[in-house]
Amino acid sequence: MRTEIEQTADGSHTLFVPELDEHYHSVNGAIQESTHIFINTGVNHCPKKDIRIFEVGFGTGLNAYLTALEAEKQQKKIHYTTIEAYPLPSELTEKLNYARQIDKSTQGLFDKLHTAEWEKDIQILPYFILHKIEADFKSFRLNELHDIDLVYFDAFAPDKQPDMWSQEIFDLLYQIMNRGGILVTYCAKGVIRRMMQQAGFTVERLPGPPGKREMLRATKE
Ligand SMILES: C[S@@+](CC[C@H](N)C(=O)[O-])C[C@H]1O[C@@H](n2cnc3c(N)ncnc32)[C@H](O)[C@@H]1O
Repeated sequence: MRTEIEQTADGSHTLFVPELDEHYHSVNGAIQESTHIFINTGVNHCPKKDIRIFEVGFGTGLNAYLTALEAEKQQKKIHYTTIEAYPLPSELTEKLNYARQIDKSTQGLFDKLHTAEWEKDIQILPYFILHKIEADFKSFRLNELHDIDLVYFDAFAPDKQPDMWSQEIFDLLYQIMNRGGILVTYCAKGVIRRMMQQAGFTVERLPGPPGKREMLRATKE
């Protein structure tokens, strides 16, 4: 997929995909959005000191980067598995300004997330292990994963990629998660909330990041 770098309202970059007429993040602020949904409402809501995360869509690596920083800050051990069907070229990821926006001294960390070998556990930092999978999420055998505490559901919107948001997928995610595990997403659509409930999750509608009224957090009680 061809992508173009754009600047969002908080100064951080996102990517625009002309083919889908879709952005990777909220144009109201990419860093703000990721921090709100995945860090504050996700990681920081997880009481465990040792967390297994599964992300749908590695993309720019922004969520992985913010999570690695949080793992070190809170000294929480995080094992981060992420799946991506269309890895971005290094000429593009090198231009992304996330480390410049947050803390220049962490540019090396951001680069390491992108250069890390795929299909392997890679110790990126003392508290952060990354495992990138290059595959199509729709045909990936999710039951190869297990004991997931936290799912970052960060696919393109359901109206752009409806196959990524099916009942079957939420049923499978429910099965590979631990009790007490949570799934967070920027999407707040009723039809998606009902799929999560049908899968067995208890779903909360929570305030969204700037520019978005609501987001969803699903818990496997
Ligand atoms: C909304 S973007 C978010 C990406 C990432 N979390 C970030 O912060 O940059 C959705 C991501 O899902 C990826 N994707 C699209 N279709 C996919 C598929 N079938 N399997 C796996 N990943 C896919 C896209 O390439 C893109 O990186």
